[in-house]
Amino acid sequence: MQSHVWHPYTQMSQWNSFDVIVKGRGMWLYDRKGRRLLDGVASMWCNVWGHSRAEIVRSMISQTKKLQHSSLFNLTNDKAEALAEKLVSICPGMHRVFYSDDGSTAMEASAKMALQYWQNMGERKKTKFIVLENGYHGDTIGAMSLGYVPAYFSSYKSVIFPTIKVPSPRKYRIPKGLTYEDYYNSCLEKLEAALSRNDNIAALVMESGAQLAGGVTIYPKGYQRAASRLCKKHGTLFVLDEIATGLGRLGSMVEYEAQESRPDIASFGKMLTAGYIPLAATLASKRVYDAFLSPFEEMKHFFHGHTFTGNPLACAAAIENLNLYERHKIISMVRKNSVILSKRINEIAALDMVGDVRYKGMLMGIEMVSDKTRKTPIPHKANVPLRVFKEAKKHGIYLRTLGSIIMLVPPLAIPEQDLGFLIDGTISTIENVSKQIIP
Ligand SMILES: Cc1ncc(COP(=O)(O)O)c(C=O)c1O
Repeated sequence: MQSHVWHPYTQMSQWNSFDVIVKGRGMWLYDRKGRRLLDGVASMWCNVWGHSRAEIVRSMISQTKKLQHSSLFNLTNDKAEALAEKLVSICPGMHRVFYSDDGSTAMEASAKMALQYWQNMGERKKTKFIVLENGYHGDTIGAMSLGYVPAYFSSYKSVIFPTIKVPSPRKYRIPKGLTYEDYYNSCLEKLEAALSRNDNIAALVMESGAQLAGGVTIYPKGYQRAASRLCKKHGTLFVLDEIATGLGRLGSMVEYEAQESRPDIASFGKMLTAGYIPLAATLASKRVYDAFLSPFEEMKHFFHGHTFTGNPLACAAAIENLNLYERHKIISMVRKNSVILSKRINEIAALDMVGDVRYKGMLMGIEMVSDKTRKTPIPHKANVPLRVFKEAKKHGIYLRTLGSIIMLVPPLAIPEQDLGFLIDGTISTIENVSKQIIP
């Protein structure tokens, strides 16, 4: 069958055909021939309960029968209201919720909110962003500009707006001659220097708790708290992206709270609807929100919105999902699962081509290298992503890599037995791919 679909981040010339997934049940995806694969990446890091969870499906069916979409322009809807109330009650220091459709659009909204905040406050020159190297906030042009992973974005450089980049506190491959402590301190010093040298900074924007797509950097304890304090000290906004790391992924409901940090703006997406339907939310503190209130003619209101902002069907799914979080104590489930993952670390780290294993909560990045001691990256021509995908399939699991980093990001509520299956399959996958690359 001739396909007309163009797949994301995919070299289409290498793929003659794709497995056609037609059904999802629990942790498993089924293709049209009835073969099944364990969803090791939570369908791009968003699935919480597994597929077809009855309560969420029921909430969506029931909402579909009542109201499928009604706009938040001049009206509101009961589900958008109820979800906003819930989110504000979960997220300390937050006051209002601005809805959008996915992580990228949530980050566009965050950036525009931060910029307009300062314009509304009369601080017209505060128009620049400080961001972390190798941050990732999505693929729209604003979100790319806030992030910038060179391997992904270099073709679009001409339209990416300039930002001030400071190093992120990674532990693997730190500059030669530095201890980790030196390097870590230099990261904070460079951040403070950037904040104090420039009086035109609108915000520091970063992922909360860990950087994911730019290479899986788990922040050391205290880093995010220090960054948050520096923003307060230098009078700039602190904007966090919890799209991939919040709502339990790293083992806490609200990662910024676990990190003892206080953002002015924070965005959530992915797991918000348990991965069932697109929805994202950008939360703002009262201080930020109040700056948008004025007589109409002053034109201080937020000039941003989408057709599907606050879609009631998506909000209904999110409400049911968050109810399930409470009822089934998802955070303790994640913490238990995380212990299971951690017990297998030594076994994974000992594999020949594994250079580093970085993990927290229900997230693990396994970096494959061609030389462990030299930490030598595997060349692109070895095509690790395709090899890993094909090999993992033989072991009944669906894996996706970031370059040579294998991502284990399963549904948060994965049962112990399935998690064991996933880890066993990943280990066999790494062993076999290693033999293919260095026979
Ligand atoms: C931290 C972070 N922010 C933003 C995004 C973009 O989200 P989306 O793909 O839903 O646009 C992602 C996606 O992986 C992400 O990991």
